[in-house]
Amino acid sequence: MTLSKTSDRGDEATVDSVFSSRYGQSSLPKYRLPEKEIPKDAAYQTISDELMLDGNPRLDLASFCTTWMEPECDKLILQSLNKNYIDMDEYPITTELQDRCVNMIAHLFHAPLGDGQQAIGASTIGSSEAVMLAGLAMKRKWQLQRKAAGKPYDKPNFVAGSNVHVVWEKFASYFEVELKNVNLREDFYIMDPEKAVELVDENTILVCTTFGSTYNGEFEDVKKLNDLLDKKNAEHGWNVPIHVDAASGGFVAPFIYPDIEWDFRLKWVKSINVSGHKYGLVYPGIGWVVWRSKEELPEELVFHINYLGTDQPTFTLNFSKGTEDNHSIPS
Ligand SMILES: Cc1ncc(COP(=O)(O)O)c(C=O)c1O
Repeated sequence: MTLSKTSDRGDEATVDSVFSSRYGQSSLPKYRLPEKEIPKDAAYQTISDELMLDGNPRLDLASFCTTWMEPECDKLILQSLNKNYIDMDEYPITTELQDRCVNMIAHLFHAPLGDGQQAIGASTIGSSEAVMLAGLAMKRKWQLQRKAAGKPYDKPNFVAGSNVHVVWEKFASYFEVELKNVNLREDFYIMDPEKAVELVDENTILVCTTFGSTYNGEFEDVKKLNDLLDKKNAEHGWNVPIHVDAASGGFVAPFIYPDIEWDFRLKWVKSINVSGHKYGLVYPGIGWVVWRSKEELPEELVFHINYLGTDQPTFTLNFSKGTEDNHSIPS
């Protein structure tokens, strides 16, 4: 075990001495490891002083990620800071709590879940990560369908308004899917569903609709998109799905406009992402992706890891934490 060593510091052993000690008199290299170690309190003071030059998060009104949480939340976060959550066998209660969140959100978004049926989703670092998982699942599902039909599957595309969040351009680039943009026009700053459906073809893996546009907060008309797509899918025998990017609207509409149909009440909505940190009293980063049902998440994307004890099915990128689909839940 590595222990911090402070015993050879003689009379410089208190924090108070940090500024007057020899550690405060010579500078440390910025980009290389120093030749010699320094005591932990001197290291702490140096870093803490440098961090003072950052802005004050409470004064940050430039982003809509909030920077204050109730003290009880701070306490819970600190209590859990030392857990390596990815080891789900070791921290089953944390896993259970995150599964409950996914289930609550899936129900809020009207996922067609049977009694006691576990929702399918993942907790992520924010909507950006959630979008990658959702897009990837739809890309793979499309590829599998095309393969099974003996058709080419090397030119996937997706349709979105040009107001789409930049993360979708990232998805297009990272996962090699062409982005077909629906241009905005004067006095209409969200995606026009009619123009979107015109762009759909047999290589379309999804239509992304933004529910709460990043630029003006406006909701796109998901119901109209669903109905137009339903018609086009039926005409061509396609199954082009809708993903709703509800990063900024997913926790507004269910409470303030419960009658707007934008979620799993609509047939072609197969996955939804939502951010947790855009609505107040929640630090970044937290977001979720939820799928309509298990069928929307190709089994081959779910990896089974067992080296930490039990079987852990995971469909994650970096920080995301998928729900465990191997048990039912009390209804
Ligand atoms: C529509 C939309 N999608 C995705 C994102 C990315 O969200 P996050 O910051 O949670 O990664 C945002 C953020 O502004 C957004 O407005």
